[in-house]
Amino acid sequence: MTATITVLVDNRTGNDDLAFEHGLSLWIESEGVHVLFDTGQSDAFADNARRLGVPLERADHIVLSHGHYDHGGGLATALATAPQATVHLHAEALRTRFSIRDAPRSIGLPAPALRALETNRARIRWTSGPTPLAPGLGLSGPIPRLTDFEDTGGPFFLDPEGRTPDDLVDDQALWIDTPRGIVAVLGCGHSGLVNTVRYLLAQVPDRRLHAVLGGLHLNAASEHRLDATIAALAEWRPDCLAPGHCTGERASGLLREAFPEAWRPVHSGAQLRVG
Ligand SMILES: [Fe+2]
Ligand SMILES: [Fe+2]
Repeated sequence: MTATITVLVDNRTGNDDLAFEHGLSLWIESEGVHVLFDTGQSDAFADNARRLGVPLERADHIVLSHGHYDHGGGLATALATAPQATVHLHAEALRTRFSIRDAPRSIGLPAPALRALETNRARIRWTSGPTPLAPGLGLSGPIPRLTDFEDTGGPFFLDPEGRTPDDLVDDQALWIDTPRGIVAVLGCGHSGLVNTVRYLLAQVPDRRLHAVLGGLHLNAASEHRLDATIAALAEWRPDCLAPGHCTGERASGLLREAFPEAWRPVHSGAQLRVG
């Protein structure tokens, strides 16, 4: 199957008419199936969707990659706009969680999103493992952390004192099976790009990697991690590499240098055909 992926909102925009914010939201259309993958941190994704002519109300599935405000902040609007859509998230996505640099900052789902999920409880499918959404399209569920060079990518904790690290067990990716191989769609990539792609390739055996798209959270990555990530990609040789959102300027530049043919820009309004 083939798919068209439209970036509804990203950290940058390629078009003055479209909003941008620290966040990610993608619209995936594949053989008549419509998926809203993350919602950014505000309603910007919905405003941009209107400007782009994307029919949000036709979403069959709303997927939350993980419970961070910059991915689930628009959930209340998404749930109201697409009343027939099923919502997929891991139960741990609802937790209170923090990023601690100088001071603790609450970065879990905002109250309106949590209230909207509570009101729409009957529409939620809790992802606790690999979950097919349609033929040739599914969710990873929780991703095993097997590499020794990847971590969640930031100072994430479950308490404001920083005693309990947040492993982001709710992090999940989406895969699309195309004739050219698997498309891996990541929200923030908190499980690590290599862990994520390996797990997706294991779920759909005998396929190569066709494309990687989304947030790769490499902004604080060590040289070792960047090298190992690029080495893994060099073995997979994806046709398309579209790092956006929290990938980081430097990592994105290195990926572009390493894979000039495959690299694609990600910004609000960008569109990618895969398969
Ligand atoms: Fe993010
Ligand atoms: Fe995140």
